[in-house]
Amino acid sequence: MHRFHYNQGQLFCENVSLQSLAEKHGTPLYVYSKGTITDHFTRLDAALGELDHLICYAVKANSNLSVLSTIAKLGGGFDIVSAGELYRVIKAGGDASKCTFAGVGKTRDEIEYALSQGIYCFNAESEAELEFINEVAGKLGKKAPVAVRVNPNVDAKTHAKITTGKSENKFGIDFDRIGAVYARIANEMPNLIIKGLQMHIGSQLTSVDPFVEAVKKVSPLVAEMKEKYNLQFFSIGGGIGINYRQSLDSGDAGWWEKNSAEQHPLTIQKYADSVVPLLKPLGIRILCEPGRFMVGNAGALLTQVLFEKRGGAKIFKIVDAGMNDLIRPTLYEGWHQIVPLKQVEGEVEKVDIVGPICETGDYLAQDREVAPVKAGDYIAAMSAGAYGFSMASNYNTRPMPAEILVDDSQAHVVRDRQTLDDVLKGEHVV
Ligand code: LLP
Repeated sequence: MHRFHYNQGQLFCENVSLQSLAEKHGTPLYVYSKGTITDHFTRLDAALGELDHLICYAVKANSNLSVLSTIAKLGGGFDIVSAGELYRVIKAGGDASKCTFAGVGKTRDEIEYALSQGIYCFNAESEAELEFINEVAGKLGKKAPVAVRVNPNVDAKTHAKITTGKSENKFGIDFDRIGAVYARIANEMPNLIIKGLQMHIGSQLTSVDPFVEAVKKVSPLVAEMKEKYNLQFFSIGGGIGINYRQSLDSGDAGWWEKNSAEQHPLTIQKYADSVVPLLKPLGIRILCEPGRFMVGNAGALLTQVLFEKRGGAKIFKIVDAGMNDLIRPTLYEGWHQIVPLKQVEGEVEKVDIVGPICETGDYLAQDREVAPVKAGDYIAAMSAGAYGFSMASNYNTRPMPAEILVDDSQAHVVRDRQTLDDVLKGEHVV
């Protein structure tokens, strides 16, 4: 259930008017709902209740310290992909012993740092990486906990750029090789401790079928490795898709309950109902690594309309947020609902919402029917809580936007807008 809704013609996040936030803090502005994040964590936690489980939130989706702290306080663990993300988790009060470290290219410094902090497990993606972790741990006189990421060669049927579980993708080790790899760890790598087995087949999955296929395929392997090497966990990865077409009706009790199967084929209940019965007989701890599910619908990017341009072929609404602030539309054909912060009267128009960046791919929406907003009006790109700010950049020397976390009727600035001096910090003229 997300907490964005219209009330008397104005869009609210929980009990805070977004128009008031845009006027006070300027735009572009990311706004997150703490209640939504809490609700999503709690729902997933309850849905997996029958299993011994740990939710390891995928930090890459939204790594703001206050978002991490919210999840840490709920008892969540974290899936990290860099020393930087681990540093953030620790700064936010998270527990390193609940962190898994993913990614195909971990460096010596990163492995040393993670070992010194006592992370739960390295999820290794190649034999060369396992050998390297073994060497680094040995030099430090430590034992490194490891899981092997299996590439189950299952088609997640999502966008090509976010599919990870096919054998042509760079991730994980081939299914057929896994038994031999565990044997190598046990026999040849004395500084590693076998902890688990991991998989992740892709992101924004809107059908439960690929999850079921992957779990069914990998479960016998988990059972075998558990028998042989005392495996302690099986991580089923992240990837739970969200509904980018959420209802913002006034007084809406939540799209989650209301949405029918065809609007949102993958509800959390459906996910759990399908995978929990398959996982339970394994009698092993289950980890999952949701990113988008936890924060996607919990965020919006607010932006102001600067100008309108009526070209020969199109109407352009030029706004002050660009692809540097939200890259998903142009990178993945990501669809974000565009809505005014103050409802306006009049016929909807088919327009392109474009940013100020000097690139044709700089748009938030194309050929989209939106309310007839004018220069000076504010609009929001919804469901921008995941892979929004975390993928933002300073392209065109644009400062990173500010971030706000709303908690009921309180709005906290959880990241200041960058100044131009912040952007130039560390550069030198020679
Ligand atoms: N675990 C691993 C190993 C991952 O690589 C990812 C995401 C996750 C968990 C979390 O997946 P999620 O639950 O968020 O689907 N920037 C893209 C998405 C990239 C996903 C990368 N890996 C987007 O904006 O759609």
